[in-house]
Amino acid sequence: VNPETARLLEAYELTAKLYHFLLKNTEHGKAAMEYLRSRGIGDKLIDQFQIGYAPNRWDTLVQFLEKREYPLEEMERGGLLSERSEGHGYVDKFRDRIMFPIHGRSGKPIAFAGRILGEGQPKYLNSPETRLFNKGRVLYNLHQAKNAIRKQRQVILFEGYGDVISAWDQDVQNGVAAMGTALTENQALMIKGMCDEVILCYDGDRAGQAAAMKNFPILEEAGLQVKIALIPEGLDPDDFIRKHGGERFRNQIVDGAVTTTKFKLINLKKNHILLEGGGQIAYSKEAVKLIAPLSSPTEREVYLRELAAEVDVSFETLKQECNEEREAMK
Ligand code: CTP
Ligand code: MN
Ligand code: MN
Ligand code: MN
Ligand code: MN
Repeated sequence: VNPETARLLEAYELTAKLYHFLLKNTEHGKAAMEYLRSRGIGDKLIDQFQIGYAPNRWDTLVQFLEKREYPLEEMERGGLLSERSEGHGYVDKFRDRIMFPIHGRSGKPIAFAGRILGEGQPKYLNSPETRLFNKGRVLYNLHQAKNAIRKQRQVILFEGYGDVISAWDQDVQNGVAAMGTALTENQALMIKGMCDEVILCYDGDRAGQAAAMKNFPILEEAGLQVKIALIPEGLDPDDFIRKHGGERFRNQIVDGAVTTTKFKLINLKKNHILLEGGGQIAYSKEAVKLIAPLSSPTEREVYLRELAAEVDVSFETLKQECNEEREAMK
């Protein structure tokens, strides 16, 4: 390896250890520790995910790295420090934040996500892209989840760090997250290299559902079977687990995840008021258009029967509509 890369890797490892130590063992970390506890994250999870705290000072890390003779301009390029806005020199990039190390495949930290304690902007401050960290090629928690992913032949893809951590705490150890809601082809291929099935488990809000709609085709194009977990409106997986427990998360949310066709049908239904004149007709026709291209007659029949149960149209009529649609597709 290039010597600058090697030094940066070392510096990240030491920094993660420092922040972790400061959180657990010093007065500086008290408020952060309490915040974590209030979110149900105790010592076991703090150790498992190597969670830390960056103190509310400008030079904790500067001093630490300087003493160990790391070139500060390299550390700035590497995303650990920032240039002072006035004058010369460097300051810590992360201050007064809960630090979630992002580990590479080898299990070594290569970036950080720093969460503010409580409310404020930005909620998460993330490391920039560096010679170690390309965010489109990393999945949070993959280094710990890969065994469970291979064994269960399934990965659960979450939106957030907290979701991965809460799920892990409830023995759901095949969970990973992309950095934010964007997903790349590269990440899809990384998953495909380990298993064939993905459960997309995004937040039950507009942004989460839009991200699920945008990202499932990327996963399908990589050859993965995709199912989508339906989280109740207003909750994310972490909230759901804390409110309803791990058993309901596993049985209701994970095992109840729906096919992408069903997900599209559910979204379509949300856009139509079925009691309104014309609402049923528009919904039925658009739903049939989604179902008609499916190559499996069994799948078509199942979805058409479900549709028939929702609207005042018989299965036979919907089937006829579907057959006409298929004729028109030829
Ligand atoms: N995210 C980010 N920067 C932000 C906000 C979000 O990078 N300013 C990313 C983080 O990876 C975050 C994910 O998007 O985990 C999902 O965002 P959101 O649902 O808003 O955050 P939560 O993980 O639910 O955060 P928390 O529970 O701590 O409020
Ligand atoms: Mn979200
Ligand atoms: Mn969330
Ligand atoms: Mn959350
Ligand atoms: Mn009917």
